[in-house]
Order: sequence, then C-alpha cells, then structure tokens
Amino acid sequence: MYTGLADENGFVTEKMLVRYSRIAKGGVGLVIVEASAVNEYAIASPVQLRIDSDECIPGLRKLSDAIRQHGAVPGIQLFHAGRYALLGKELLSSSNVPLELIPETFFYPRQMRIEEIEDTIFDFNNAAMRALEAGFEVIEIHGAGGYLVSDFLSPRTNRRTDEYGLTIEGRMKFAIDLMKGLKNVAGGNIACGFRLMVDELMPGGVVFEDAVILAEQLIKSGADYLNPLPGSHEAYIQDKISEGLKEPGFGVSYSRGLKKIFPETVIFSNWRINSPEIAEKALQNNDCDAVALARPLLADPDFPSKAEKGLEDKIIKCISCYHCYYLALQGTEVRCKQWEKKKPKETQG
Ligand SMILES: Cc1cc2nc3c(=O)[nH]c(=O)nc-3n(C[C@H](O)[C@H](O)[C@H](O)COP(=O)(O)O)c2cc1C
Ligand code: SF4
Repeated sequence: MYTGLADENGFVTEKMLVRYSRIAKGGVGLVIVEASAVNEYAIASPVQLRIDSDECIPGLRKLSDAIRQHGAVPGIQLFHAGRYALLGKELLSSSNVPLELIPETFFYPRQMRIEEIEDTIFDFNNAAMRALEAGFEVIEIHGAGGYLVSDFLSPRTNRRTDEYGLTIEGRMKFAIDLMKGLKNVAGGNIACGFRLMVDELMPGGVVFEDAVILAEQLIKSGADYLNPLPGSHEAYIQDKISEGLKEPGFGVSYSRGLKKIFPETVIFSNWRINSPEIAEKALQNNDCDAVALARPLLADPDFPSKAEKGLEDKIIKCISCYHCYYLALQGTEVRCKQWEKKKPKETQG
C-alpha cells in the first residue's frame, strides 16, 4: 500500500523503514511493499517509491531486511501508472482515450508505440532483477487499478488494432509478456504474483469474465498467486460507487468467484476485510487462500496479532472514511485518522 514516504528521488527513507517494520511486527505473514515505479513514465506521485535504477537497491535492501527481521516475508509490487502518471514524464497508455478524474477536466494520454511497449517490458524485467538483488522473496505485478497493465486489458481504454489490442487475446498480451518475463527472471526461486483487475466498475470496461480469461493465461504462464482488485480511480471518485465499496467484506465475492474456477491456484482476498471474523469466514469457506489487508493495517498494524490473541474488540477498525485515499491522491504521506486518534501513546510510526 502506497505510503507517500519515499523521498523526492523515490528512495527509501527512515520513516518508511519505521512504517514497514511496524506493520511486520504486528503479526502479518507477508508484507508486499507498495507500488514501485519501474521507469520515469511510471510515477504517479512525487514521493513514489522507485525501482528503476541500481541506486535504488541499497535502500530497498534495508527495507526487505527490516521486514524480515520483524518476522514477515518481504515482497514488492512492480508498477507503472500509465494514464494516471499525472506527475510522471508523460501520460502513456494503450490508446489515447481521455481521462476524466476531475469533472470537466480532461487529461490526454498518448498511445504507446510497439517499441515503447517492448522497452517497458524490459524495464519491468530489470526492476524484477533489482527486487531479487534487494532481497525480496515475492514479486507482484500491479495489473489493476486502471494503471498501465489493466489499461491494456480494458476494452474501454484499449482501442489498438495491433497485436496488443483488438481482441481479448491482444488486450491481455502485455500482462502475459510481463508475467513470462518475471518468471524468467525469478527462475522458480521466488513467488510471482499478479494484482488482477477483476471488474473495472465502469461501463464498457473490464468485466469478471475478462479477468477469468486473463487469469487462466497468467496461471499457464507461471503466476503463483492472484490478488484480485476491483475498480479504478475513475470509478472510486464516483460517490455512488465509493459508497458501495464501503460494504464490509466487499472483496470476498471476487476471490470466491476465482477460487471456484481455479481451485488449485493461490487466491488472495482483499477489500474491506476489516475484522478477523470476516477474514476467518472467507478462509473457512474456501473463498480464498490468504487475506490481504491494506487500510485495516494502517488503522491498526497490530490487527493480526490481536486477532491471534482473541483481542478482536481491541482492534482499531478501518471505517472506510477515504481520508488516507485522498492523502495518497494529493501525493503526501498516508496516515490513518483512526490510528492517530487511538494508537497507544508510546507507539512510533
Ligand atoms: C492510500 C492507499 C494506497 C494504496 N496503494 C496501493 C498500492 O500501492 N498497490 C496496490 O495494489 N493497491 C494499493 N491500494 C489499494 C489497496 O491495496 C486495497 O486494494 C484497497 O485499499 C481496498 O482494500 P482494504 O479495504 O484492505 O484497504 C491503496 C489503497 C489506498 C487507500
Ligand atoms: S484513514 Fe479512514 S479509510 Fe484510511 S485506514 Fe483510516 S479509517 Fe480506513
């Protein structure tokens, strides 16, 4: 989960080490470090974590060490903001479909040339090599949220007529090329995952059936797990949609749908799993193999250890107020109002 704690060059800071150590200490099994930009076009925020040069490796190494030392497995997410790279070098996309994030204000991305797509695949592969060198044991491709990889998958944003568009096979080619590249770099030594756009929640966008077709090919290409994510910022900023997304356990129906079709594949469940009860039920029902928490850990990094000790009533719960989301959109440090108000006095981070 993006923290807004990298420095202006995208390097790991002391504050970031404290934040991730605190999360690891709270009892999670795996920490997937936030969206990390694979090149200069991939940046969505002025303080986005970067993994696009060898200079990033020492800081990232400290980060993976800190997570491991505090008891969790360190993973990292490879990211390209695509048409949301509002603070990057240029807005690149599968096609030049305008983006309307602010009412009546349009941003115009540029359709990528084939050579640029190939260069981007190369950048993802190099980023994966750096992640390995920095000691991460899990690498995930961000293929959702309306960012570049899912923008290729979407019939709403991908209007290409070449090998990277036109049909579902064309629209998912970019994601498959990336997964094959990642597996090649990883060489079977670490787990490779994919953040899967399961439903774009926008008219004419990705629907669950598209996600299933892509999931099947990702699994054939070696994906070790799928981490489903519905929606994109264009959907989240709509009041009607954001209200619906507040429903506790919202994400479970998507993981359940995938688990039924791909029983042998490790499927995460994420979105509003804000109580141990919802998490336990999803696991018991075989709706997922693992529960992924984002805001619930910002609201209380001790969620897992408190759940383990039966101290559910002591958990500071995420109430889905979107405060942290708007801080992220502003490109500033992400903090939780609930945690700030209720955290134990001696707590750092
Ligand atoms: C502030 C913020 C930052 C996020 N950063 C990321 C990210 O870097 N990578 C990602 O895959 N999802 C990111 N997300 C989405 C979350 O991972 C998650 O899917 C979403 O918040 C819903 O799950 P939750 O209820 O557990 O928070 C972010 C969400 C928020 C609110
Ligand atoms: S700021 Fe609001 S939405 Fe974000 S983690 Fe805290 S309670 Fe949840």
